[in-house]
Amino acid sequence: MLTKLEGPIVRINPNELHIDDPEYYDELYVGSSRRTMKYEWAMKGFGPTISSFATEGHELHRTRRGALAPYFSKASVYQLEPTVQSVVNKLVSRLEAIRGSGTVINVIDVFTALTADIIGEYAFALPYDFIDNPDFAPHWYRVMMDFAETFHIFKQFGWMEPLVRKIPQGIVKIISPQLGALSTVGDMAKERIARVKAELAEGKKPDEKTIFYDMLTNDQLRPEDKTSERLEAEGISVLAAGSVTTAHMLSLLTFLIVDNTEILTRLQKELHTVMPRPDSQPKWNQLEQLPYLTAIIQEGLRWGYGVTHRLQRISPDVALQYDGWTIPPGIPVSMTSILMHDNQSLFPNPRLFSPERWLQPDSAQLRKYLVTFSKGSRQCLGMNLAYCELYLTLAAIFAPGRFSFEMFETDISDVEIAHDFFIPCERMDSKGIRVLVK
Ligand code: HEM
Repeated sequence: MLTKLEGPIVRINPNELHIDDPEYYDELYVGSSRRTMKYEWAMKGFGPTISSFATEGHELHRTRRGALAPYFSKASVYQLEPTVQSVVNKLVSRLEAIRGSGTVINVIDVFTALTADIIGEYAFALPYDFIDNPDFAPHWYRVMMDFAETFHIFKQFGWMEPLVRKIPQGIVKIISPQLGALSTVGDMAKERIARVKAELAEGKKPDEKTIFYDMLTNDQLRPEDKTSERLEAEGISVLAAGSVTTAHMLSLLTFLIVDNTEILTRLQKELHTVMPRPDSQPKWNQLEQLPYLTAIIQEGLRWGYGVTHRLQRISPDVALQYDGWTIPPGIPVSMTSILMHDNQSLFPNPRLFSPERWLQPDSAQLRKYLVTFSKGSRQCLGMNLAYCELYLTLAAIFAPGRFSFEMFETDISDVEIAHDFFIPCERMDSKGIRVLVK
């Protein structure tokens, strides 16, 4: 007999419940003071559950996240803003060199190179220099998407991932150059971790700040949380979580702005107030004051969803109450940003990109339903860095009088989500979001 799958609460598999009700988001994700766990079954889709992102338990997650959190606070991002700006400046120089040459660039590659370089400099003191690559290191986006795509397979068949990891790296590099590239990045992290450990053993303070130094010198972390294997997992997770996500937002925003002359003109008029010259470099806190740029970013974060997979949370001790149902402790319950952000009553005509919806007298109330970075104890750790990157990059590339972009054989179907690989993925046969720089 067929069951009608309708209504706000659905048992989507033998073990999980899913809720589609924007009013319940804060209750599920923020709760009050109750403990919250992640769902280990899903998290193993990304490999061993030893990074903060994938940690199942409430207390262990709190200490692991605590060791990273100061690094990504708003104050830290303000302090490290010059690092972000210097990578953005490198991007501008590359675009200046390309301008007028007729070269077609794929902005998803460009922005993945940009965000990976920023994380490399910011968190690991590792100069990846993907931006300097003639084609903006296109393999890097593929690496990240292949990694994301395997999430569904490893989630279902948990025995597979450890088996794949046992394959010698030399062979992996031959079978899959993309996975090989990921292991090269892992090797770079390993080398940096070894160097920081050696410096600490000699009683030296490293010249550059890295998350590895912060973790190794954190008294709250247990010795087993300071192993090279865990530090490397934390590094890879920060790199993966922080590169393709922001790159995806920058790419879709580039398309949606270039595709709409009215939005572009209004944005540039506003930017002119803080960028009287094309090479002016306003600070992030100046840009945050600009209402239209802010509305564009908010609308991009809504329209692009951020993370598209349902995000499970477990209340281990207390039963949850929803709509007359009692959900016993221990049951994974999830909600999905797509359903939140495409909710017709909150965001009428949801697939229309309309920054104006964030500039209405009652728009402040809508903020509550913007869940791109999720909420609560497991919300995105890097959201301040992501905002800083979004503001500085959009201002730099759309600075009045600097560049003019023309889309090349690209339409909305190259930008809209076609697959959920935890993060959104465009249609598989898309050639990317391609532009000419003029
Ligand atoms: C627009 C860009 C970004 C989006 C949409 C985004 C979204 C998210 C979301 C929804 C989560 C929660 C995932 C879950 O519940 O399983 C998350 C977690 C996380 N994000 Fe981001 N993120 C972005 C950028 C970044 C950046 C730049 C970093 C850089 C460091 C980062 C690092 C992390 C980490 C470490 C976690 C795990 C936090 C924890 O579990 O304690 N993210 N992100």
